[in-house]
Amino acid sequence: MLPFESFIKNRLSEKRFKHSVNVAKAARWLAFKYEANDSKAVIAGILHDLTKEWKTHDHLMFLQKYNIGVTKYEYGSKKLFHAITASIYAKAVLRITDLDILNAIRFHTTARPEMSKLEKIVYLADFISDDRSFSGVDRLRALASINLDDAVFAGLSYTIKELSDDNKVIHPNTINAYNEFVLTKERENSIKSKNDDLAKYISFKPFRESVRV
Ligand SMILES: [Fe+2]
Ligand SMILES: [Fe+2]
Repeated sequence: MLPFESFIKNRLSEKRFKHSVNVAKAARWLAFKYEANDSKAVIAGILHDLTKEWKTHDHLMFLQKYNIGVTKYEYGSKKLFHAITASIYAKAVLRITDLDILNAIRFHTTARPEMSKLEKIVYLADFISDDRSFSGVDRLRALASINLDDAVFAGLSYTIKELSDDNKVIHPNTINAYNEFVLTKERENSIKSKNDDLAKYISFKPFRESVRV
């Protein structure tokens, strides 16, 4: 049995409970694959949707109790509340003190720039868990087995496209995370092309020397 499994079983619908267990298992698989802490991945995965079935009123009361403000973007997309309240619940009620676990729960929906490896793992696990069946999930699973960053980037691109197609609010964290991946890729490509040029120059050098001789 996974940690907190019976705890969440008593608090979530059967469907949400199964999803949470699947996300925990996907997170554990990704943690093994990408050399992250698998115990933390399982805990963050199983708790990530802990408050997903609360009503808006419950979220607002809980946020008020802990004096947590929300932005207009969260108000504009109320399903974002659960990532915030679940991380506060994990800290305040379940006494989880590990900041990486709390952040992985907090940013599992929007992502954010400069995510830790654990945050990326939980974000991705929520996309590729066994219960997911959206079109494109097989490609994302394949990508997840090859490169963590590429798969997270594909998840961000998918989210931005879906939300913009539906004229829905896109949280700035999601856009900023997407931009960070694009800029990092551009930087990596620019370094790679400079290295390729350098390699060409180095391999060319003996020829020039031989001409001089
Ligand atoms: Fe969620
Ligand atoms: Fe989820």
